[in-house]
Amino acid sequence: MHHKTVVVIGASSGMGLAAARRFWERGASVWMIARDPMRLHAAAAGIGHERLHALPADVASAEGRARILAAIERMDHLVFTAADLVYKSSRELDEAELMRAVSSKVVGPYLLAAAAAAKMPADGSVTIVSGIAAERPMVGGSVTGMVNGAINAMVRGLALELAPIRVNAVSPGWVDTPFWRQVASDERRESLFAGMREKIPTRRIGTVEDVAQMIEVAACNRGVSGSTLCVDGGQRLV
Ligand SMILES: NC(=O)c1ccc[n+]([C@@H]2O[C@H](COP(=O)([O-])OP(=O)(O)OC[C@H]3O[C@@H](n4cnc5c(N)ncnc54)[C@H](OP(=O)(O)O)[C@@H]3O)[C@@H](O)[C@H]2O)c1
Repeated sequence: MHHKTVVVIGASSGMGLAAARRFWERGASVWMIARDPMRLHAAAAGIGHERLHALPADVASAEGRARILAAIERMDHLVFTAADLVYKSSRELDEAELMRAVSSKVVGPYLLAAAAAAKMPADGSVTIVSGIAAERPMVGGSVTGMVNGAINAMVRGLALELAPIRVNAVSPGWVDTPFWRQVASDERRESLFAGMREKIPTRRIGTVEDVAQMIEVAACNRGVSGSTLCVDGGQRLV
C-alpha cells in the first residue's frame, strides 16, 4: 500500500474508521471523509498524522462530492461505508427520510465513483459496503434492505462500465459499531446480539476488523470485480 492513496467515505466511525486505520497501517496515504468535522478530526488524530487527511464532506450532496473531487488529485482505492439510514415501518416513513438513505448509500456513491474513475489508475478499485438487510429483511428495515440490494446490483453494472477499475460490494452481517447506539438502548442491543450469537454459524457478532479485512481484499485482490463479498458469519443462512 506504500505510495497508494485510499479514500474512505464514512471514516469517522465504525467500519470506515477501521478500514482507514488498516490502510494507513499498511503504508497508504488515507483521506478520511465524513460530515461532522469534530468527530472526523478526533478520529483521524487517533490514527496518526503523516499520510492522513481529514476532509469534512457530505457524499449525499453535489457540493460535498465536488469538494472531495477538487481536493484529491489521485485515488487508488475508493471505499464507501457512509450511511444515513432510517428505521421505521414503510407505513410511517416520509419521502425526505427515504431519500436521505438513498442519497447517502446509493446515489452519492454511484455519482462519486463514476466521477472519480477519471482520477484512478487501471488497477484502482471502488468498494461499497452494503449489508445483510438486502437478504434478511426486518420490520422497520425495508429502506436499509432497499439500499443494500441496490448496491449489490449496482456494483455489477459499474464493474462493466468503469473497467478495468474493479468495483465490488462488501456485505456485513450485524457488527458492533456506534451505529447500534443510535438505534437501540444498551439493554436492547445486548439482547438482540445475544439472540443473534446463538443463531449464526460463527456464534459471534462481527467486528469492524472483520469488515476492514474484507474491504482490503476487495481493494487489493485483482481477480475480484462485480462481486458481493459477504462477511456476515453465515447470518444470511439462518
Ligand atoms: N453496524 C452494522 O451492524 C451494519 C450491518 C450491516 C451493514 N452495515 C453498513 O455498514 C456501513 C458502516 O456502518 P457502521 O455501523 O460502521 O456505521 P457508523 O458507525 O454509524 O458510521 C457511519 C459513518 O458514515 C458517516 N456518514 C454518514 N452519512 C454520511 C454522508 N452523507 N456523507 C459522508 N459521511 C457520512 C458518519 O459520519 P457523519 O455522521 O459525521 O457524516 C460515520 O463516519 C453502513 O453502510 C451500514 O449500513 C452496518
